[in-house]
Amino acid sequence: MSLNEASKKAVLVTGGAGYIGSHAVKVLCDSGFTVTVVDNLSAGHLAAVDVRARFEEMDLGDLAGLCDVMERGRFDAVMHFAGSIEVGLSMKEPDLFFRNNVVCGQNLLEAMRRAGCGNIVFSSTAAVYGSPKQVPIPETARLFPTNYYGVTKMLFEELLKSYEVFYGINYIALRYFNAAGADSSGNLGEAHDPETHLIPLVLRAAAGGFAADSPAKTAPLKIFGTDYDTPDGTCIRDYIHVTDLVKAHVLALDYLLRNGKSDVFNLANGKGFSVREVISAAEKVTGKKIPYKDAARREGDPPVLIADCSKAKKVLGWEPVHSSLEEIIASAHKWHSSQNR
Ligand SMILES: NC(=O)c1ccc[n+]([C@@H]2O[C@H](COP(=O)([O-])OP(=O)(O)OC[C@H]3O[C@@H](n4cnc5c(N)ncnc54)[C@H](O)[C@@H]3O)[C@@H](O)[C@H]2O)c1
Repeated sequence: MSLNEASKKAVLVTGGAGYIGSHAVKVLCDSGFTVTVVDNLSAGHLAAVDVRARFEEMDLGDLAGLCDVMERGRFDAVMHFAGSIEVGLSMKEPDLFFRNNVVCGQNLLEAMRRAGCGNIVFSSTAAVYGSPKQVPIPETARLFPTNYYGVTKMLFEELLKSYEVFYGINYIALRYFNAAGADSSGNLGEAHDPETHLIPLVLRAAAGGFAADSPAKTAPLKIFGTDYDTPDGTCIRDYIHVTDLVKAHVLALDYLLRNGKSDVFNLANGKGFSVREVISAAEKVTGKKIPYKDAARREGDPPVLIADCSKAKKVLGWEPVHSSLEEIIASAHKWHSSQNR
């Protein structure tokens, strides 16, 4: 899509004040799209929303409000990032996850249907696969989530299929593996509270955020499981730089607007790194010794999650360019250092 074509297109971004959504809003604005963000700021940050985007503080539970925004905006497409994301919490408060990730998601689809908006790009997750039988994992693998977060994402993928069949809304579901890193400007980064993702936790530990043996600090960096059937006994995950991730969203949007064909794609690097490898790469990047404690396995954590990303490369023409682990960690470190996190 040329810049001129893009500038005529209007996109609604839900969750655009969050980590990945805010990076996507920036790249959409850079590419000439007219962007409106809907976010209830339950986990996002107003300061992270690009000043070129219009901002509506709203909960996706507010169907009338959403319908009003959709009617006024005459959007060509929606990018849906909003949702509840903490895997552990999903097992304690499944009702909250069902409401936010499924019911609120259906509100969004309803508002789209009523306003005649026919395209949506959705943030799905590798958690829909559960403990895969085949690694690298292709999109055709069986969906068998091992936590309720993954269940809600799978259910929303099902809703997308229904809204396509019955109401002609086309979708692309992007199943991300582990998003990490920060925008090269140093102005945007990952700021979850509580933070549960490995790279920001490792960087916090490197900065002395919590010492492994300090009684005053309740959350030292822990390695959950050191006896997995992997070369160093710790879990292996596939990390993708957030800049590469959001680039794939723009390509997916372009594909949807051009072809109107629904599809599902994995997004990752296709390379796995163990928890110990992440810690040692972060020690290299920060020049600091990182304190940690070995801990028991967490229920439902698969030993190895590595994506087969060949489909996104072939169909969308996507190629991750910031794929070295050191580069991903260095960009996150630059941002976290500027925030004193
Ligand atoms: N971070 C990852 O590694 C990862 C991996 C796979 C999938 N995902 C998915 O990507 C999406 C974005 O993840 P993130 O890390 O940027 O999360 P995030 O928590 O930083 O962003 C989510 C945003 O949605 C907003 N929000 C939540 N519920 C809302 C509601 N009901 N109404 C309006 N706004 C609401 C929050 O305020 C926040 O700004 C999520 O759907 C997540 O499940 C993330």
